[in-house]
Amino acid sequence: MATYLTQPEHSQTAHKPGSDVVRFGVIGYGYWGPNVVRNLNQLEKADVLAVCDQSAGARQRIQKAYPQVDVTSNPAELMSSSEIDAIAVVTPVWTHYELAKAALEHGKHIFVEKPFTSNAAQAEELIDLAARKNLKIMVDHTFLFTGAVKKIKQLLDEEAIGKLYYYDSTRVNLGLFQHDVNVIWDLAPHDLSIMDYLIQEGPEAIVATGQTHLNGFEDVAFITVYFPDKIIAHLNVNWLSPVKVRTTLIGGEKKMLVWNDLEADEKIKIYDKGVSVTNREGVYNLLVNYRTGDMWAPKIQQVEALTGELTYFVDCIRKDETPTNDGKAGLRVVKMLEAASESLRQRGALVYL
Ligand SMILES: NC(=O)c1ccc[n+]([C@@H]2O[C@H](COP(=O)([O-])OP(=O)(O)OC[C@H]3O[C@@H](n4cnc5c(N)ncnc54)[C@H](O)[C@@H]3O)[C@@H](O)[C@H]2O)c1
Repeated sequence: MATYLTQPEHSQTAHKPGSDVVRFGVIGYGYWGPNVVRNLNQLEKADVLAVCDQSAGARQRIQKAYPQVDVTSNPAELMSSSEIDAIAVVTPVWTHYELAKAALEHGKHIFVEKPFTSNAAQAEELIDLAARKNLKIMVDHTFLFTGAVKKIKQLLDEEAIGKLYYYDSTRVNLGLFQHDVNVIWDLAPHDLSIMDYLIQEGPEAIVATGQTHLNGFEDVAFITVYFPDKIIAHLNVNWLSPVKVRTTLIGGEKKMLVWNDLEADEKIKIYDKGVSVTNREGVYNLLVNYRTGDMWAPKIQQVEALTGELTYFVDCIRKDETPTNDGKAGLRVVKMLEAASESLRQRGALVYL
């Protein structure tokens, strides 16, 4: 058993609300970890004291980039440090639960990568543990902090889009193959967390189909999510696409929008297009009006999402507030992923949530 899993012998100090700077330890410095460290390091109210990675190459990269930061291969050193208030877990999904649990047991707030855990039971346990110890959990649902998603949320809240009909996302590229999860657990958390944020009513049921071609994990998958009130979502996630596509269509009663996340400037285009039924007397007499008005691209805040997200996490710790993307939000996404996995196993059976 790894040493960081053992119970702490003495209770370490968690950051007290109101104190000035939150001191971080970061575990995992592979692809995404450097972004977390760079952003934390730039924040006025955060300090990165130590970074841990099992890989010697990763440790060399940290030391070169941040000579002042302690570097270790052993997560236990971060867990047991009384200097560290919060731990960011930026390692592969299957390691999240054990590292996050050990951090909470040692009195640290946690920032955990998406998806929160490998199953719902693990997420529930971490949520209970954090509540008992009065510690914060933030799950890295990065897209909620992008200018585009903030704008879409604002448009929905202001009822500019009207009643929501559908969310249809294509999130495809060549690689990066993950070694512990399939393409659904890797790419779908982005859309599932965005939908969880935008659509008030929780999902009712999920259908997922997919196929494995290379390493035993599904690399192409299609997911349908049924929400109450006739809202439907479809996600196309694929690691075997020749081109990178990040396009989402959102259709509502009043307006329709296209969000192309790869566009530099006009990421969102809103179309004043719609259909209205003027006569419902039988299928043959159905009369529809098509409305085609203007298109415009609203101004979108251009900031790095992770900067805003980590600033918010630090504020939540300092002010003793619960983040929107807390452990419960992480759990809701994990439940959708579990339902999708179950449906996938049954080749597209409808799985209720
Ligand atoms: N929010 C986002 O947009 C986003 C983007 C990419 C990845 N991620 C998430 O970040 C996490 C990491 O993904 P990645 O692509 O950086 O993976 P990666 O494999 O590139 O890096 C993981 C690093 O963790 C280290 N590691 C693994 N287990 C460890 C342990 N027990 N102790 C210390 N170090 C350990 C590895 O040596 C490696 O350097 C995943 O959960 C992934 O879903 C999120």
